[in-house]
Amino acid sequence: MALTSSSSFLCFHMLMLTLFSLISAETTLQVPAIFIFGDSTFDVGTNNFLNDSQAKANFPYNGIDFPYSVPTGRFSNGYNSADQIVRQFGYKRSPPPFFFLLNRSSSFKKRILQGVNFASGGSGILESTGSDAFKMVIPLREQIQQFSTVRDNISALLGPENNAMLLSQSLFLISVGSNDIFDYQRNTSAKMTVQEFLDILQETYQNHLQKLYDLGARKFGIVGIPALGCCPFERFIRKTGDCVKELNDLAQAFFNATETILIKLSSQFVAMKYSLGNSYTMTLDIIDNPLAFGFKEVKQACCGNGNFNGGAPCNASANLCPDRQEYLFWDWFHPSEAASRLAALTLFGGEVRYVTPMNFSRLVQTT
Ligand SMILES: *[C@@H]1O[C@H](CO)[C@@H](O)[C@H](O)[C@H]1NC(C)=O
Ligand SMILES: *[C@@H]1O[C@H](CO)[C@@H](O)[C@H](O)[C@H]1NC(C)=O
Ligand SMILES: *[C@@H]1O[C@H](CO)[C@@H](O)[C@H](O)[C@H]1NC(C)=O
Ligand SMILES: *[C@@H]1O[C@H](CO)[C@@H](O)[C@H](O)[C@H]1NC(C)=O
Ligand SMILES: *[C@@H]1O[C@H](CO)[C@@H](O)[C@H](O)[C@H]1NC(C)=O
Ligand SMILES: *[C@@H]1O[C@H](CO)[C@@H](O)[C@H](O)[C@H]1NC(C)=O
Ligand SMILES: *[C@@H]1O[C@H](CO)[C@@H](O)[C@H](O)[C@H]1NC(C)=O
Repeated sequence: MALTSSSSFLCFHMLMLTLFSLISAETTLQVPAIFIFGDSTFDVGTNNFLNDSQAKANFPYNGIDFPYSVPTGRFSNGYNSADQIVRQFGYKRSPPPFFFLLNRSSSFKKRILQGVNFASGGSGILESTGSDAFKMVIPLREQIQQFSTVRDNISALLGPENNAMLLSQSLFLISVGSNDIFDYQRNTSAKMTVQEFLDILQETYQNHLQKLYDLGARKFGIVGIPALGCCPFERFIRKTGDCVKELNDLAQAFFNATETILIKLSSQFVAMKYSLGNSYTMTLDIIDNPLAFGFKEVKQACCGNGNFNGGAPCNASANLCPDRQEYLFWDWFHPSEAASRLAALTLFGGEVRYVTPMNFSRLVQTT
């Protein structure tokens, strides 16, 4: 079901599922391609190609619920949020990583016409984000540069006019910002004030989004960052088990900054359309009322170690919960497959509390 305050939740669930499958079947052709940018919430294997990256998930128990239980590099027990969103539009799963396609020159041309995933775990909006903690990540600027190459390749295949048409009808999904905030929080040296940091983040994000617009993107599906202070790692660190307020305040302020950017850009460029998902509100609503959304455990990670399973990454020597669909968190930072699915349903068909100014199903219908 999508997140909803409806109390007759089961019926609603069935109704929405039926409704969604009808809508997705109908809208498949309206989204010829989906291009995906961001961090580990969307990474489907980009970092597997980065030898020195320490932000990897291509080992068990990651992928335990993925088809054939393969660890693919997704930070999830199964399909991640990128997969779950594109599934709403009738795709089977996320398009493959750019690096994967790059190495398959025979099918490269055909496959890029349906989209490419550029997202890289540990990366952020700022160029330096993740480079200290994870050694090697692909920052958002470079992801957009890779897209620019793909755009040239599509243009070579279809001609510039058809290329522009294809891109204008395609969906551009972006989920980024958490790692910038984590890096800011980790930085113990003399650092800028919160306001300075948010200003730089906002300005840089705006430049990235405008660059994408200049390259032909028109429909932006932006996923905001969740209540970072409530992830198992943060509960582990604080020991009290409470959410970390400063982090949640930063997350909320960043959501506001993102909304400001999108309002500004879309009034400047009338062809630009967007949906902004409020993951912050989604997570807090679930944490406040888990059972209403089908979860039983919203504090502990399913896979990990230490208090809240939040003290170590998910790997083959970590604890693993059997009832994974009941957990909000898969590991110390990432949502479970079930949580990603709920988020995707909500982004696709949800109300304005969770996705503004329109949901993703409406976004793709805009002309
Ligand atoms: C990564 O490692 C593989 C196998 O060891 C090697 O073939 C490849 O050249 C390396 N790539 C880079 C960019 O260092
Ligand atoms: C690309 O494919 C070649 C041959 O299949 C392989 O040796 C190489 O490691 C691959 N490179 C990457 C980045 O995966
Ligand atoms: C894609 O475009 C880039 C930049 O124009 C070019 O270097 C590359 O050869 C192209 N790749 C394919 C497979 O067409
Ligand atoms: C910490 O912040 C300062 C000032 O903003 C910056 O110069 C420095 O690179 C940061 N350190 C790390 C490890 O990110
Ligand atoms: C974000 O915006 C909301 C509503 O506009 C406001 O209530 C809230 O105080 C703002 N939060 C932050 C941290 O700026
Ligand atoms: C899992 O991670 C922990 C903590 O980083 C590490 O000590 C352990 O060796 C890892 N286990 C495997 C199987 O990689
Ligand atoms: C999602 O958008 C559609 C328009 O495409 C609208 O009919 C529907 O009411 C929206 N969902 C919610 C829950 O607001």
